[in-house]
Amino acid sequence: MKPYIYITRKLPFEAIAAFREKYDVKMWEHDDIPVPKEILLAEAKKADALLTMVSDKVDEQVLNLAANLKIVANMAVGYDNIDLTAAAKKGVAITNTPDVLTDTTADLTFALLMAVSRRVVEAADFIKNGQWKSWSPFLLAGQDIHHKTLGIVGMGKIGEAVARRASGFEMNLLYHNRTRKPEIEQILGAVYCSFEDLLKKADFIVCLAPLTDETRNMFTRKVFQKMKRSAIFINASRGHVVDEQALYDALVAGEIAGAGLDVFQKEPIDAGHPLLGLSNVVALPHIGSASVETRTAMMNLAIANIEAVLDGKEPLTLVNKD
Ligand code: DGY
Repeated sequence: MKPYIYITRKLPFEAIAAFREKYDVKMWEHDDIPVPKEILLAEAKKADALLTMVSDKVDEQVLNLAANLKIVANMAVGYDNIDLTAAAKKGVAITNTPDVLTDTTADLTFALLMAVSRRVVEAADFIKNGQWKSWSPFLLAGQDIHHKTLGIVGMGKIGEAVARRASGFEMNLLYHNRTRKPEIEQILGAVYCSFEDLLKKADFIVCLAPLTDETRNMFTRKVFQKMKRSAIFINASRGHVVDEQALYDALVAGEIAGAGLDVFQKEPIDAGHPLLGLSNVVALPHIGSASVETRTAMMNLAIANIEAVLDGKEPLTLVNKD
């Protein structure tokens, strides 16, 4: 009997043709609706492997039911949607998709930074709504990016890629991270500093830190109040690193100048969410790694991880090494 693989979203049929020959593969039939929990539970019970998305909660309940499960291959670099302790207890390998999405996510992070500072979305809406009556000196004037100070919170691979982009804009680079990155300091002139210092000095604060117990809700009202009033905050990591009410209050009170958000506490965010009503907020639907090339590479890496584990080999990008 072929091993049974369950994929929690509809992936392009042709893209997984070879995979289907080798294994008994079933996919959730929608690409825009997450698999319901009861179906995930039922599938986890019989699957040898699950290919999951960032929107699936692979918790203790799912993992405890799994009788044959050998691997959960998450199609994301982040894996805060998976209970690693429960996976370890069951001896289930957890893999992610690092590296292949680094540059694409850094591009999008920088695009958000540019969109907020140069008011790109506001300006595009302005012209489409027929509001453009005349050229005027300060019409939709934003803030410069070049030669300003960028503060990166979370200097992982994506942080480094954002820093490389920023150096092309001749920005000054500050970063805060669990560990120092001497190489980045040397090559890009990035300066390591405390979180407090970064908040005080940076013109742009970009959060790329993974969601952990340490980073959950790290951006509180007090934190926003320590930033410059002209500061722009960008979040491309996870929604739960930010207290969204605090961010809203800080923006409305003019304690910071703007925000670019690719991630939210609740995804999808409600269209009526107060943050979406602010003109100085650019909000995107968690598309950091969403280029066709990169999403294809992520899918292929997840598949390669499943194949490795089912062939009794070491997966390429194992998360729970212990
Ligand atoms: C990731 O890879 O963790 C992204 O947030 C999902 O594309």
